[in-house]
Amino acid sequence: MTDNYQLPLNEIYLGDCIKLLKKLPDESVDLVVSSPPYNLGKEYEAKQALEIYLQEQTVILRECSRVLKSTGSLFWQIGAFSNKGMLIPLDIRFFPILESCELIPKNRIVWARQHGLHARKKFSCRHETLLWFTKSDNYIFNLDGIRVPQKYQNKKHYRGNRKGELSCNPNGKNPGDIWLFRNVKHNHEEQTIHPCQFPEDMIARIILSTTNKNDIVLDPYMGSGTVAVVAQDYERYFIGAELEPKYHQVALRRLSKEPDQNECFPNLKTLRDYVEETGETIEKFRFDMQVAKKASERSKAKIYSEEYHLQEMEDRLLYEEAAFAANLRGEEPPIDRKPNGNGKKTPIRKQDKVEQIQLNLWD
Ligand SMILES: C[S@@+](CC[C@H](N)C(=O)[O-])C[C@H]1O[C@@H](n2cnc3c(N)ncnc32)[C@H](O)[C@@H]1O
Repeated sequence: MTDNYQLPLNEIYLGDCIKLLKKLPDESVDLVVSSPPYNLGKEYEAKQALEIYLQEQTVILRECSRVLKSTGSLFWQIGAFSNKGMLIPLDIRFFPILESCELIPKNRIVWARQHGLHARKKFSCRHETLLWFTKSDNYIFNLDGIRVPQKYQNKKHYRGNRKGELSCNPNGKNPGDIWLFRNVKHNHEEQTIHPCQFPEDMIARIILSTTNKNDIVLDPYMGSGTVAVVAQDYERYFIGAELEPKYHQVALRRLSKEPDQNECFPNLKTLRDYVEETGETIEKFRFDMQVAKKASERSKAKIYSEEYHLQEMEDRLLYEEAAFAANLRGEEPPIDRKPNGNGKKTPIRKQDKVEQIQLNLWD
């Protein structure tokens, strides 16, 4: 058992994560969660660069496995390597590396996105993955802390011993392995100057399910500090590193929750949290990404849950496939209920109701 006082708790090391990792004792952290950099540099041919990158990642992952406690978990979030028309899903290459670090695979979580770059000569990429591995079979998984609403919350048994009782757990269901947390891009209140942040809610799901209060969470590639911010919010300790001083600064400013000397915050979320906590007026402050003259208050913003986005995506995919099927058969396409991109739904006309019912039947 490691003495926590030896550890750089609640600090983000400014520098190369390998230096930090080498200093950490064996079996000292409860959770590793990270998204490594995968812009592979230009000095090599792409294929060679990928192999070198994977060798470097193997060194980092061996260290992460070494510092993980026997009850611990590791989540590695990766996308695809794309070069000259070739696309390699990186989780395929990371999976054997993680197994070689004597870790046990638990889930391959698909992080689906509604938006992204449109490909011309292949299908557009609409997901990344999170690989979850544990150090042993005796790992923490607090399902009750992260349940989501059941699809048919009020459905009851209609016969047998349990007739009349709810047929599903009223506390909600397991969220499953397809996640739809909105990417932190424009219009997202968490957005900082960092180009590829984790959404805080996604990290909250991981931290709440695989750690307990006062546990230690490590992110070797902290970026804008999302893992540290969420660990702090849920009373866990964090440890991490970030190579770039400008992102390191953003992470520290997010953690401080206070305005800087220019009355500025690293993102709209920290600004809104601050005015809600202190009662100060929002007009006094700015945030790094601000384009409008003044920041908007949270009470005036629309904030949707992950469930909403999942339903939206499901509806959209069903619509697109129904439109494709109709096109193949030379039939009238189903009506697009949100053609204007303003979030307002076109009311269903009587003659379209049949198609709507057909779409629902696929549930
Ligand atoms: C994909 S981003 C992580 C973003 C982070 N998840 C967030 O929510 O902001 C990867 C980060 O790793 C940093 N980085 C790259 N090489 C590093 C190294 N050797 N040690 C520490 N940080 C590094 C990059 O500067 C970048 O900010």
